[in-house]
Amino acid sequence: MLVLMVSSEANPLAKTGGLADVVYALSKELVSSKQEVAIVMPLYGTMFKDINYPIRQIASFDVILGWRNQRANLFTTLIDGITYYLIDNEYYFAREGLYGYGDDTERFAFFTQAVYDMLKQGVVPLPDIVHVHDWQAGMLPVLFKEREKGNPLFAKLKTVLTIHNPAFQGIFSQDLLTEFYGLPHQLYDNGQVRFGNQVSTLKSAIVYADMITTVSPTHAEELLTSEGGKGLNSVIELRKGRFVGILNGIDYQEFNPENDKYLAAHYSPENFSAGKSLCREQLLKTFHLTNDEKRPLFGLVSRLTWQKGIDLIEKAIRPALEKGDYFVALGSGEKSCEDLLENLRREFPEQVGIYLGYNNTLAHEIYAGSDIFLMPSLFEPCGTGQMIALRYGTLPLVRYTGGLKDTVLGYENNSVAKANGFGFCEYSPEALNQAIMLATKTYRNSKVFSRLIQNAMLANNDWKKSGEEYLKLYQQLKEE
Ligand code: GLC
Repeated sequence: MLVLMVSSEANPLAKTGGLADVVYALSKELVSSKQEVAIVMPLYGTMFKDINYPIRQIASFDVILGWRNQRANLFTTLIDGITYYLIDNEYYFAREGLYGYGDDTERFAFFTQAVYDMLKQGVVPLPDIVHVHDWQAGMLPVLFKEREKGNPLFAKLKTVLTIHNPAFQGIFSQDLLTEFYGLPHQLYDNGQVRFGNQVSTLKSAIVYADMITTVSPTHAEELLTSEGGKGLNSVIELRKGRFVGILNGIDYQEFNPENDKYLAAHYSPENFSAGKSLCREQLLKTFHLTNDEKRPLFGLVSRLTWQKGIDLIEKAIRPALEKGDYFVALGSGEKSCEDLLENLRREFPEQVGIYLGYNNTLAHEIYAGSDIFLMPSLFEPCGTGQMIALRYGTLPLVRYTGGLKDTVLGYENNSVAKANGFGFCEYSPEALNQAIMLATKTYRNSKVFSRLIQNAMLANNDWKKSGEEYLKLYQQLKEE
């Protein structure tokens, strides 16, 4: 079977968040089960200079976007058995970042059309499954179904949409439906692609894809409610029979405390105490902090956005810092969130370390060297940080939402034999503070804390099971 992943980002070439990890790791897993996998994504300006893989151009074609005629240069490379197709157009993609530009609608309309043209013109082999991720190429299933209705070439092609983040919906003005996608206005009038008074690429994909998935079973339930559905619940409800939640995994090769090249020491579930304390010592040293072993170290690695509960942390961690606990954070994003963390550092310079930006080595050091990993998200379709933390024996402290609920067993609800972290439900500083207090108290009981570490390290979140579930889903579609 040949699967084509259509994504705006994928490791190891371009990443802003968990999406890039998931697309790459799932593809690798499918390759190891003997499937053929390709990923198509834009060739961003920032990538050109630091791609360490030999890329070669295989095609060049025009993409028509209303009155514009834009050139797509198609490059390819092979990484870990996965074929990457990189769509290059300097005007749209030779920029500093990946998203956040005024013309994102047009940039990703170009990307979507280019993928469609590349398949239609037979520039690359036609896949059995086109697996679209998030809003960016959401119109692709619409293009296949509306424009290729009687075309035998596309008759067997099946589409899957995975919703990684329902807060990003690809909303644009109805006037652009024809201009950017060459689709009739009637699809707006009959409601198929309409979302309020505009068009949403994510909603359209939900309507048109052959199968819709999201990244955890709990988030699948949440998306069907009015609080969690972000306005999409009624649309998803209509496709309920075609909708499932499949929990993401993490890459067990990349994240392995037994041989992680970024760490000062290595350790295993059977023998972690010396290795883990060396990692902690190193981490505190990196941030120029002292090391009082009686006090726990809280860690955070996150995109800094309103979704991640940074506002709660800023309020709830203060009492712990006043008692002498430590907190280190790595991330970048919204200025308001960065400022909240900076406030803490200014107030507690001896105990708080902040790194604004992305630094892979430091991320690994935080996953391994912290005692407790904070993830009090407002919503979290799956979350990868908590699973990485578990693997490194750093106890996740989470709000029970989405995938966090599916992966963390809090000590407040579970026995010592089962628990592998801490959690709370209500989105409030008080509820987070209570969980922090329990974590601090448990840290002082080293026998219990060690057992929880071991439970965490033994939790299994590799891609094997999820990979099998996706494969089963593709196979079912193919047989329909
Ligand atoms: C998005 C979600 C996150 C999920 C990731 C990968 O970033 O916010 O919860 O883990 O996608 O699916």
